[in-house]
Amino acid sequence: MIAGIKQIMQDIGEGRLSRASNSLRAGMYRRAWKYFGFLPSSVPYQPTSIAIGITTRCNLECAMCWRQFTPVSAPRDIELETFERILDSFPFVTTVGLIGLGEPLLHPNFLEIMKILKSREIAIDSSTNGTLLDEKMAQALVALKVDQLAISVDGATSNTFESIRTGAKFGQVIENVKILVNEKKKAKKTKPHITFTIVGMKQNVVELPDLVELAHQVGVEAVCFQHISSYSREIDKRHLDQSEETATILKKAIKISSKNGVELALRPLKPMPQPCLMPWFGSYITQDGDVRACPYLGCLTCPMEEWYEGIPIPINPEDATFGNVLKEDFVNIWNCERYRRFRTELKRFMNEDKHKEWGVENYCELRSKTPGNYCRICQWRFMTGC
Ligand SMILES: C[S@@+](CC[C@H](N)C(=O)[O-])C[C@H]1O[C@@H](n2cnc3c(N)ncnc32)[C@H](O)[C@@H]1O
Ligand code: SF4
Repeated sequence: MIAGIKQIMQDIGEGRLSRASNSLRAGMYRRAWKYFGFLPSSVPYQPTSIAIGITTRCNLECAMCWRQFTPVSAPRDIELETFERILDSFPFVTTVGLIGLGEPLLHPNFLEIMKILKSREIAIDSSTNGTLLDEKMAQALVALKVDQLAISVDGATSNTFESIRTGAKFGQVIENVKILVNEKKKAKKTKPHITFTIVGMKQNVVELPDLVELAHQVGVEAVCFQHISSYSREIDKRHLDQSEETATILKKAIKISSKNGVELALRPLKPMPQPCLMPWFGSYITQDGDVRACPYLGCLTCPMEEWYEGIPIPINPEDATFGNVLKEDFVNIWNCERYRRFRTELKRFMNEDKHKEWGVENYCELRSKTPGNYCRICQWRFMTGC
């Protein structure tokens, strides 16, 4: 909130008046949601933040990742020219997330991409698996004042971490994090703000308090705990339960975080009766310019037949794509009939299922009542990946 106001003041001071005015309007609508639960289907401002998928390549095979179950498009990196053209379509954006279904640091022009964003006064928020974070990269991230960097650490021990993040070495990733923290200290800078992100599962939740402790020890400012996003029975089994035992672990993590001054962002154990707000305030743009409501929605071809007793219900990326910014004006895409219907359905869906228990089957049952052929289940429900 305060960062948002600071950004608006800065935009006004530096003459970016239309961006400031767009942010003010978006801020008003955020408050309308907060105090009155109001979310319009047609949105009278443009998104203030977007995420762009800059590469479809990855050097790991994490057990829970969508990539293992998705025919990810052919391995490739976004062209710099395409990246600039996408940005040209979003003159009011203040933050870009370099997040998608790949490892951003694998992009050969990752630093170039960050320079482009900074030259446009756009804040950067990225997520990495940390394996490629060496001294040179750390120095560049500090020098460029990258705003937020999430490093995915799904355990506080080698055993747990390496059994989930297949291909990565726990010790190596933590050493890499230390390099970045050290570069920040040497340069006396506060950016990037570093977060450990953990996808909470039955297998690793017990290590959350130790991960908070580890963050403190190595000088990482925050820990963000996300729920796993389900898309198969196999993944669903990994979901956290809502037991006392799990709640106790979370409470322990909270205690350690307040003792050590590490910020801790926790998702509630019970599903939240509110939608993910990304379809109202953000958008995801693929490396090809396709506009989607979120990075992970529609990237799956789930084995839904399994849950539907043999009836195949594919989830097609095209069904979750509202248009392409390389071919048409984003203003027309943002409030096109399908995007509006999507928002309406999302609100309705949230109201309907707020009393449901966890489990993919319940959501699938609801899904069958909704028109359209795209999955709208777990990412929204558990607010993962956004
Ligand atoms: C898809 S990755 C892309 C960025 C980078 N490769 C990384 O690992 O941070 C973005 C985030 O999604 C998380 N993630 C992967 N599979 C997930 C799932 N099934 N549910 C929720 N989050 C997941 C990752 O752990 C990571 O924090
Ligand atoms: S979570 Fe990140 S590092 Fe792991 S497989 Fe997915 S994209 Fe790659």
